[in-house]
Amino acid sequence: MASIAARSASQSLRRSLAKAAVRPATQSAKYSLLARAAVNRASAATPAGVSAVQGARGVKTLDFAGTKETVYERSDWPLPKLQEYFKNDTLAMIGYGSQGHGQSLNARDNGLNVIVGVREGGESWKQAIGDGWVPGETLFPIEEAINRGTIIMNLLSDAAQSQTWPELAPLITKGKTLYFSHGFSVVYKEDTKVVPPKDVDVILVAPKGSGRTVRTLFKEGRGINSSIAVWQDVTGKAKEKAIALGVAVGSGYMYETTFEKEVYSDLYGERGVLMGAIQGLFLAQYQVLRKNGHTPSEAFNETVEEATQSLYPLIGQKGMDYMYNACSTTARRGALDWAPIFEKANLPIFEQLYESVRNGTETRKSLEFNGRSTYREDLAKELAVIDNQEIWRAGKVVRSLRPDYKPESE
Ligand SMILES: NC(=O)c1ccc[n+]([C@@H]2O[C@H](COP(=O)([O-])OP(=O)(O)OC[C@H]3O[C@@H](n4cnc5c(N)ncnc54)[C@H](OP(=O)(O)O)[C@@H]3O)[C@@H](O)[C@H]2O)c1
Repeated sequence: MASIAARSASQSLRRSLAKAAVRPATQSAKYSLLARAAVNRASAATPAGVSAVQGARGVKTLDFAGTKETVYERSDWPLPKLQEYFKNDTLAMIGYGSQGHGQSLNARDNGLNVIVGVREGGESWKQAIGDGWVPGETLFPIEEAINRGTIIMNLLSDAAQSQTWPELAPLITKGKTLYFSHGFSVVYKEDTKVVPPKDVDVILVAPKGSGRTVRTLFKEGRGINSSIAVWQDVTGKAKEKAIALGVAVGSGYMYETTFEKEVYSDLYGERGVLMGAIQGLFLAQYQVLRKNGHTPSEAFNETVEEATQSLYPLIGQKGMDYMYNACSTTARRGALDWAPIFEKANLPIFEQLYESVRNGTETRKSLEFNGRSTYREDLAKELAVIDNQEIWRAGKVVRSLRPDYKPESE
């Protein structure tokens, strides 16, 4: 279990909460809700003699299975402190994809001064207007937003960060801060040509999830996990700024990494069990069932439906041993026997994948594909192939049989 090095902050947290309670609703609602819940949880769970906040909040160093790591929590940044910290800043959100959308709206709801910069008249421009950004006031063409901003949050697509860098770089002048949500552009600088100016802080906040989740968790009073990192620290404040920005854009807690580690783990994970490996395993298992005469519904149920609807949520709740324990003795015996066989078979593939990430092969493929003028159409073609695979066509019918099925969600 985690060992906890606690910091006493109950007095200041309560004072801040009291202040937050009288701020305008748009600026304080999420924080005061969350912080009140945290204090209540702490009071309920704390042993006698330990202050509530010491017991549950302000945690800094945790023991992750034998390795001590520092984590940063939103509870250390009550909303008034956050607003005070950024009172002289303008956060310029460059790009309005899923991350730009989620992060900018969260920062705006936290009462910070945020503007958006995207291509005028493009898809993102229209979406930003739909979300209440006003042309000429809070919505600008990219160059103008950078000129107006003090913290330049480069959330263009990774390929676009590289393509636009020659025009954008001269605008990132001394005193500004350059922010990314991925280590991609600066780590693979030989390929992307993104080399930040020497006189600005360069930091990263990488939410561990889709930008849509960044927004929905925040609206629910919860928060995404993010990593933070510093590439260049000219002010001596780069790390503190990264943590504060992590809070500003909706993180619940943050762990520390480097730009290299962030991009390696991220590219590796999404090609591995988060997306690539899982589609490959599902397909392989399904094909063998079908070749042996199982119907599509049986093959889909035994491959995807049971996994996503029953077993994987148990892993999420309490871990793999808990899921094994919740299954029949027959299932458990077989799974225990076959797990090492799959591990051994897959280990060389994961080694190969990590190397392909580290040596930049994955980056170059991504830049080539996503830099094409036809990338949206090319992607649509590849996704149509997946949509058309028997396994996923069968899945549509299986999902339609769920008692809580809603046709509009297909
Ligand atoms: N999506 C995630 O789950 C996730 C998670 C963590 C980190 N990240 C990182 O966050 C950053 C943003 O990712 P994202 O998924 O939010 O965005 P994205 O969908 O990859 O990029 C969308 C934005 O890039 C703009 N754009 C594309 N090509 C452009 C060009 N040639 N010139 C100017 N603008 C261009 C688009 O504007 P138009 O509408 O005008 O085309 C749009 O605003 C990336 O570094 C990504 O790796 C993403």
